[in-house]
Amino acid sequence: MSLTDQIKKRRTFAIIAHPDAGKTTLTEKLLLFGGAIQTAGAVKSNKIDTATKSDWMAIEKQRGISVATSVMGFEYKDIKINLLDTPGHQDFAEDTYRTLTAVDSVIMVIDCVKGVEIQTEKLMEVCRMRNTPVICFINKLDREGRDPYELIEEVEQKLNIQCRPLSWPIGMGKTFKGVYNLFDHKLNLFTPSQRKLSDVRQEFENVDDPKLDELIGKNYAEQLREDVELIEGVYPDFDPTEYLEGKVAPVFFGSAVNNFGINEMLDTFIKIAPAPKSRRTEDREVMPDEKKFSGFVFKIHANMDPNHRNRIAFLRICSGTFERNKPYNHVRGPKPLRFSNVTQFMAQDKEMIDEAFPGDIVGLYDTGNLKIGDTLTDGENMQFVGIPSFSPEIFREVVNKDAMKTKQLEKGLQQLMEEGVAQLFTFDMGSRKVVGTVGQLQFEVIQFRLKNEYNATVEFHPMNLYKACWITSKDKKQLDEFVRSKNRHIAHDKDGKLVFMAESKAWLQMVMDNYPEIEFHFTSDI
Ligand code: G4P
Repeated sequence: MSLTDQIKKRRTFAIIAHPDAGKTTLTEKLLLFGGAIQTAGAVKSNKIDTATKSDWMAIEKQRGISVATSVMGFEYKDIKINLLDTPGHQDFAEDTYRTLTAVDSVIMVIDCVKGVEIQTEKLMEVCRMRNTPVICFINKLDREGRDPYELIEEVEQKLNIQCRPLSWPIGMGKTFKGVYNLFDHKLNLFTPSQRKLSDVRQEFENVDDPKLDELIGKNYAEQLREDVELIEGVYPDFDPTEYLEGKVAPVFFGSAVNNFGINEMLDTFIKIAPAPKSRRTEDREVMPDEKKFSGFVFKIHANMDPNHRNRIAFLRICSGTFERNKPYNHVRGPKPLRFSNVTQFMAQDKEMIDEAFPGDIVGLYDTGNLKIGDTLTDGENMQFVGIPSFSPEIFREVVNKDAMKTKQLEKGLQQLMEEGVAQLFTFDMGSRKVVGTVGQLQFEVIQFRLKNEYNATVEFHPMNLYKACWITSKDKKQLDEFVRSKNRHIAHDKDGKLVFMAESKAWLQMVMDNYPEIEFHFTSDI
């Protein structure tokens, strides 16, 4: 098969959702449809629930699960689908943000009872940064949820994206009858089924067909006719180009746990979702069908075995054909790298592979050479952009409790930061080290892993910090002057970039107003 055909055949995406909206359930059903798994219950939730939050074994187990389910590949109707898992726990949101840089589109799950929740809003902001195409799946229609018009309006307002319903629910909760596919005018009647794949379709010329009254009753048929007329009147025809540009999100309704409405979405997904897209480097746009291989590392996972420092680096192939055992240019590093142990993930299995194509995600066994954001190429010196670090929300000072183990601590901190567990800032004055995270849980994980894997003992002391802002200026003199006058608040991140550590929102605003020539960035992607 030619490289172009391999590219056309692939769809790489992630499912995003606020915890509990149904991401795990939907993932499992998609794998069932793809024939990648045979029974329900096979996909484990990657959630850490509050009851097990302080149970270290649970966290370790969680790490194991998330390696296994990091990428789930399956074939559906001749399309190779790579589904990237995103952590369910919001404390690991940063991991999700990075995963989103490795996909070409997303499916967003919304709970019809709860509507748009906070985590969905944050994730959508990340999608918008890259104009990632979004399909919206409104889930749990078997429950008494909110009015579908109201839900769509909320999605449009809170997520700042135009919606276009492609299916429409008939009733909801106890009276839920099914969904009408506005795209191909098929009616899918609801029969609750947790195991079997429901696939009952009734086709109509249009909703005026009297058969509709027989199937769902006169009242519901009339309501559906009104709804369809209204939707077709209000919304312009669905334009796949606008979806691909990230301007319009097609909306589907269904119930993941009942296998309902998923088929409609998946069939549309493989028709409209983008094949592997081009990716930007610092100097140019790299097209997937370029002959020479290139790719970037977006995630690193420490091996489960603490006796071996092996790690798995997840590489997204951006162009050309990746080959096992071929030496590749490690753009940041001193020497070329060759990988003999390359795995690809098919549903829950890993398999060794010899080659991979754009859109694919492979796992590379690494002994500490790679870090997040690294580019590998077949020769060219270029660097993919767009793996940002976001300003953390919680900051704690690292206090070494065992001076004899200072070296181990430094190494452990460095490696954990390279894995992207959290961000490390070192103050210019006094070299105080501060770890910043998006959630409380990471501090516990870091403390535990430093002890367990590096034999270093730390405590974390609270710090009164509001945000870490990366700072730049076109005027070097002004920047130097700013750094000098605010030196107590200046730190460097792990890559040596300048960071201003702001103590409060109001104070940050004041500093920003007072220094208009300094640019303050809330992500490291500057
Ligand atoms: P998440 O990964 O997004 O966090 O959500 P997950 O799939 O784990 O689903 C969260 C809960 O919502 C689960 O219930 C799941 O069964 C339920 N759920 C998912 N889809 C639907 C749906 O279409 N209708 C209804 N009514 N419920 C749905 P749970 O009680 O937390 O777990 P479980 O014991 O049922 O697995």
